[in-house]
Amino acid sequence: MVEEVMTFLKCEPGHTYVDATLGGGGHASEILKRSGPDGMLIGMEWDEEALSEARKTLLSFGDRVKLFRENFVHLPDLMKPESADGILLDLGLSSIQLEKGERGFSFRGEGPLDMRMDQRMDGSAADLVNNLSLEELESILSQYGEERWAKRIVRAIVQEREREPIRTTEALRKIVHRAIPRRFQSRRIDPATRTFQALRIRVNEELENLQKILETGWKILKKGGRMCVISFHSLEDRMVKETFRALEKQGKMVILTKKPVTPSEEEQKRNPRSRSAKLRCAERI
Ligand SMILES: C[S@@+](CC[C@H](N)C(=O)[O-])C[C@H]1O[C@@H](n2cnc3c(N)ncnc32)[C@H](O)[C@@H]1O
Repeated sequence: MVEEVMTFLKCEPGHTYVDATLGGGGHASEILKRSGPDGMLIGMEWDEEALSEARKTLLSFGDRVKLFRENFVHLPDLMKPESADGILLDLGLSSIQLEKGERGFSFRGEGPLDMRMDQRMDGSAADLVNNLSLEELESILSQYGEERWAKRIVRAIVQEREREPIRTTEALRKIVHRAIPRRFQSRRIDPATRTFQALRIRVNEELENLQKILETGWKILKKGGRMCVISFHSLEDRMVKETFRALEKQGKMVILTKKPVTPSEEEQKRNPRSRSAKLRCAERI
């Protein structure tokens, strides 16, 4: 949703923008093009591989770019209050993370059960799956994956890990497939999708991080500065909607998207992964 984001961010020369989820730097480079010749971009990304990709993409913009390998929750420590004209949060995974089997995010292709976006963190998905109690795992799958078969899946996980530790994405995928009754398995969506989503959210503390940045990020915006958030599942979107509403009630922000903006049909066809994307935007007052 590059065009939609750019419309909301109103990129202008001389202004300062934050891309708090750089990924490969696609959105960032568009912001820099449109805010040339002297607009500034502060980029944050906690994944070393994605950051080095972004570094290459943004090289030609020289000293208009400042990049930080940081969790975006630290944004208010990096920037002064009322110093930015726009903030972009494009949540979810970058294609670099999804496509590399060894990062362990995808059930397509074999890889270690890792799922850490920031490789400096402790606690991979394998650590959770092999060590958490049955109750804790069930709560992760129900809460973060909204998985109706959480109980069955977790029982199967616990049975399997008693035999031998679950180490790979493929091993986990097979366990989930066996645990969900066949007649309830969709042919379109892999039955392991919700389990993988739930573990990834927990490993990276995605919802806690999102809540923190939504509650504090607006402070670094100038009056009239905007925050755009693209989310990829209902838990995130609900959090964005509710926090924006609370900030509006407190007189700090005004919501610009009464309903979330979704990708055009053409974009959905071109990039099927964009199908679940929802963009919300609010302006500091
Ligand atoms: C969907 S991708 C962004 C893609 C990017 N907009 C582009 O155009 O290439 C999301 C990125 O945000 C990063 N990310 C997620 N949570 C983060 C956090 N708390 N702090 C910093 N980076 C984060 C991920 O590592 C991932 O690379």
